[in-house]
Amino acid sequence: MLKMRIEEVRPGMVTARAIYDSDGKVLLNAGVGLKESYIIRLKQLGFPALYIDDGVSMGEAVNEVITPELRIKTISTLRSAFTKVENNTRIDAALIKSAANVIIEEIIANRDVLVNVNDIRNYDNYTLGHSVNVCVLAVVTGKSLEYPPQKLRELGVGALLHDIGKMKIPTEILVKSDRLTPEEYELLKGHAAGGFEILRGYEEISALSAHVAYQHHERLNGTGYPRGLKGTEIHEFARLVAICDSFDAMTTDRIYKPGISPSKALQTLESLKNFQFDAELVNAFMENIALYPVGSMVVLSTGEKGIVVDVHRNARNRPIVRLVLDKQGRRLADFVEIDLNKEHALSIVDVAEPKADLWEGREVRHGDPPAQSAG
Ligand SMILES: [Fe+2]
Repeated sequence: MLKMRIEEVRPGMVTARAIYDSDGKVLLNAGVGLKESYIIRLKQLGFPALYIDDGVSMGEAVNEVITPELRIKTISTLRSAFTKVENNTRIDAALIKSAANVIIEEIIANRDVLVNVNDIRNYDNYTLGHSVNVCVLAVVTGKSLEYPPQKLRELGVGALLHDIGKMKIPTEILVKSDRLTPEEYELLKGHAAGGFEILRGYEEISALSAHVAYQHHERLNGTGYPRGLKGTEIHEFARLVAICDSFDAMTTDRIYKPGISPSKALQTLESLKNFQFDAELVNAFMENIALYPVGSMVVLSTGEKGIVVDVHRNARNRPIVRLVLDKQGRRLADFVEIDLNKEHALSIVDVAEPKADLWEGREVRHGDPPAQSAG
């Protein structure tokens, strides 16, 4: 399985994961040979990338922090709540709280699973998918900080709803790919205080959860908004959600630009430690993230390239890699699997964007999965 930008996807390639529309319905199942018309449609729907079967590592199951089904279910719960806010009607706070609880329970049950950044969203469900991810990242970190259940619940609800104020911001601003004008930026910034206003109208929602919405754009050194709070003036939950929010925004693929790799996003967070972000919380956050998620392509110190097929909890920079290209970029005939945690002379020096010609010379015929045409 390999993540590939949609512009590199060609007819005949085979999907490695199901692709869902914004209502959680399956658009394409895993294992489907892509036709030109499907690719055009997926582009129109705004999917920036796809998981493609690389022909050698078929059917591998990735251990995920929460199941795709739970992700989709939570997105649909959030969608109905967010739509209510847009229409100025009251949300069912109990439903949101129970959605957060299910996520917490699943994360507690799934011991020690690393977060593999892997959801692919189109612009229809950007904010919804982002909210679920931020909740997962926050709860995973809260768990490693040994938060008691009540604290996790307040954090989880706050994280799920941190951007609820965006429902009051014009969609053109939210989806704009160009730089915002100063006026537009001011409007966008209003989502923090706006979200707080909405949430404090619910006595079932804790004031701490509401403050996550209010303070998630504040920065440790006072450079954030809306109030320019500093240090511990910002509640710990909001300091944590700020990290999760920034990480998810950096790593998310957009139709107009790919996200940066988790390893690079973590370097950025690391460099902003003590300035914008709380150092202790960044450290706790980083422990739980796969630096090179399953399905990403990496460059080894030998110049060879390979696909990450599994990760190690205790050696996050040393995953298991299946070599696919030699140092000249030629496709290797045999796919050697290397466990970098055992091959200490080798290391990962960079990440790479897989190109369409990865299968060149392998007689990929229209409608044929690459696996079947492997010589
Ligand atoms: Fe936000």
